[in-house]
Amino acid sequence: MIRVQDKVALVTGAALGLGEASARMLAREGARVVLTDIKDDDGERAAQAIVEDGGEAIYLHHDVAEENAWERVIQATLDRFGRVDVLVNNAGVGWGGPPEEETLERWNRLMSINLNGVFLGTKHAILAMKRVPPKGGSIINLSSIEGLVGDPNLGAYNASKGGVRLYTKSVALYCAKQGLGIRVNSIHPGYIWTPMVEHYLREHGGVEEGRKALDTLHPIGHVGEPDDIAYGVVYLASDESKFVTGAELVIDGGYTAQ
Ligand SMILES: NC(=O)c1ccc[n+]([C@@H]2O[C@H](COP(=O)([O-])OP(=O)(O)OC[C@H]3O[C@@H](n4cnc5c(N)ncnc54)[C@H](O)[C@@H]3O)[C@@H](O)[C@H]2O)c1
Repeated sequence: MIRVQDKVALVTGAALGLGEASARMLAREGARVVLTDIKDDDGERAAQAIVEDGGEAIYLHHDVAEENAWERVIQATLDRFGRVDVLVNNAGVGWGGPPEEETLERWNRLMSINLNGVFLGTKHAILAMKRVPPKGGSIINLSSIEGLVGDPNLGAYNASKGGVRLYTKSVALYCAKQGLGIRVNSIHPGYIWTPMVEHYLREHGGVEEGRKALDTLHPIGHVGEPDDIAYGVVYLASDESKFVTGAELVIDGGYTAQ
């Protein structure tokens, strides 16, 4: 069974990591996929790999913090594929530090991507989903375990991901009560081995040591891999989840069960 046959899915931050894995799996399950990112070489390569595997995909340059970039990308998606059925708000950045050393500039930069980017994408996806029949759609927001529990070193990241969690519920309720047929859910990954995590560990004491330490934080005994999250994305994108909205899909090897 093809799980998202012919749906049009837009995935942000799709050049690498969870976005790239999600785009690839959506395409494998029959979706026509628009990959967007600011890393154009990696993004083009990711889209090309999908096409070489027999899927349908294009890549577009897109900074999720810019509203006019969202307008351009949604229009380009409509021009190419006729509609938007699925938006995966995946693009994100992560950095940490003590709160008294945080600067407003760094805080605002993180929020502009992790939180404003989700707001802007949600707004413009709803506008497109309302405008182009058939009605409905699925918006999937990448929060984190860091949107559920606190970390002493990740204040701005915690705040952004906690914001994504509750914004998701608000929009899910709005869409349901308006009868729009648009479902909105968040995904909460534990640590997944991606360039984001590798980069963070390199800056904070070493990759090998750090990976072992992260493994032990997850009761299941190891960090996750990108496809663990991509399976969740495909589920929420598909009609298998037609009764699911405002939900938190936790995929964390037991991290937050403790
Ligand atoms: N990897 C994890 O352990 C983990 C855990 C929980 C949540 N998440 C979340 O999942 C999402 C993906 O994380 P990842 O680990 O794959 O990260 P990653 O750094 O490996 O990839 C993120 C992608 O987002 C892109 N990006 C960054 N800023 C952007 C911008 N302004 N506009 C468009 N694209 C931009 C990057 O270029 C990159 O390709 C993020 O929202 C992250 O916070 C990751």
